Amino acid sequence: MIVAETVTDLRRALAPSRGKDRIALVPTMGCLHEGHASLIRKARGLADIVVVSIYVNPLQFGPNEDFDRYPRTFEADKALCASEGADIIFHPASLYPEGGPQVTLTVDDKLADTLCGAHRPGHFDGVATVVNMLFNIVQPEIAVFGEKDWQQLTIIRRMVADLQLPVEIIGGETVREADGLAMSSRNRYLGEDARRQAVALSRALLSMRTEAAAGMHNTSELLIEARKVLATAAIVPEYLDIRDANTLQPLEKLRPGTPARAFIAAKVGNARLIDNMPLGIHAQTHEPDPQTEKQP
Ligand code: PAF
Repeated sequence: MIVAETVTDLRRALAPSRGKDRIALVPTMGCLHEGHASLIRKARGLADIVVVSIYVNPLQFGPNEDFDRYPRTFEADKALCASEGADIIFHPASLYPEGGPQVTLTVDDKLADTLCGAHRPGHFDGVATVVNMLFNIVQPEIAVFGEKDWQQLTIIRRMVADLQLPVEIIGGETVREADGLAMSSRNRYLGEDARRQAVALSRALLSMRTEAAAGMHNTSELLIEARKVLATAAIVPEYLDIRDANTLQPLEKLRPGTPARAFIAAKVGNARLIDNMPLGIHAQTHEPDPQTEKQP
């Protein structure tokens, strides 16, 4: 496994593979866990060369966020990448010129000024800018992103479509702890009590999923159920909502043919955690949708 610390080193490492091998990129900010391992395995199964980038991108952190204390665990990350069969780690000290970049990408408010973006101004502009740079540097055929960051995944898919970027985006399912907590680098901020509380996030999403499958299709009713679960753990969510999974627009009702997803973010102890889950509706219980169902 090669560790490339500069763009020049990375390009040199990839030169023999260009035009010959299928290259996959797994972009990360390090502090790798089983969730990242599953993304690397997915990439490994789809490509000849797997590049894992490890870069804590300052552009996607707000002034009062955790950029300085974001865990940097390079030696452990390197061991995980090696054991998952990554070929190259791209680990630059910085990707931006002195004084910061003067040209960056802007994501439209419809996708970026909602859910996490509403609470983290500029965050998705920073993500889009760095991911676009990583695509330009690595020039992968495919790139794998976790579904835990569903809004990020949606925005990256849209960026690739809008900017005609020649890369296929693959989503990797969220990996969970045994009790359901979504794996996240920020889980290590949780103390014992907060760790116990944190499981309420996935339980709240699961309660909506169960009720939806049983026939509850009004999103306001589903959200009331989820809030009850959160209340038992004294969690006040930053946001809790059900959206169209593709457009991220709010949904009043679950309908066949419209993929719905429940989203949550909450501060638990010292950690800001996010999670999401798809909501399916039971085929037997759905009401006919005049838009999608043909009359006999
Ligand atoms: O999901 C992440 O870890 C980051 O947002 C990403 C995609 C690596 C960009 O910095």
